Amino acid sequence: MTPHQPAATELPTAARKSGALQRAGRIAVPTLALLVAAVSARYFTLDPDTFLEDQRTVYLAHLAPLLLHVGGGVVALSLGPLQFLPGLRARRPALHRWTGRTYVLATAALGVGGLLIAPHGLYPPFSPLGFVLLDVLTLTTTALGVQHARRGRTAAHRRWMVRSYALMFTAVTFRLWLFLLTPTGLPASVVYTSGAWASWIVNLAVAERLLRRGPAQEPLRRG
Ligand code: HEM
Repeated sequence: MTPHQPAATELPTAARKSGALQRAGRIAVPTLALLVAAVSARYFTLDPDTFLEDQRTVYLAHLAPLLLHVGGGVVALSLGPLQFLPGLRARRPALHRWTGRTYVLATAALGVGGLLIAPHGLYPPFSPLGFVLLDVLTLTTTALGVQHARRGRTAAHRRWMVRSYALMFTAVTFRLWLFLLTPTGLPASVVYTSGAWASWIVNLAVAERLLRRGPAQEPLRRG
């Protein structure tokens, strides 16, 4: 046995643990995504009383880009998990392509709207800066995913779309961050600004780890 090989008894335990984590993730990710999408959709009631209190005036003054952002976000966040279902991809490739095109259009709307509202975000300059970087990375990873799909590079397409959705999922982790850290008594500016950076950096790190542990290579094929 080399130092890198796990003992025979360790392997099943590690595999079981990782399998259980993956199963939990398969339920938690779509559930949390749909929950945040549903809560975000309240902006379409156009009732300012439901808007983020500290930003009510700002959001009313930038309603069109805000709705573009939230509309795109609700669609992309909700559709994303469908794209990772291997059964659906294999059995309904046309559905995968159409859902994918909708995800990409929704991401473009989310990104453009986000870039327009970011300069008016809370706690400048560091929070808006974190969001702008997240926005650019989300648009870039999605564009790279599309480019690889068009060239039939399935494995690279999958890797970039995993990164794209990990960044999209920041909508969930950022809200979890606020939910968990607000009761600690830390200043709101610290909680918000740290979340504007940490929530997507953590998501990206988790995505990279999952990608490294996933299937080494998929065959190249036209899809
Ligand atoms: C992944 C890239 C994303 C970026 C770069 C981004 C960026 C932003 C920015 C800059 C703001 C304004 C923050 C402020 O006023 O301080 C904002 C607010 C908002 N975003 Fe996003 N966002 C992203 C994803 C999403 C997604 C996926 C959704 C929806 C499901 C969403 C829903 C909202 C909502 C509802 C608000 C209003 C504030 C609130 O009620 O929480 N965002 N976003």
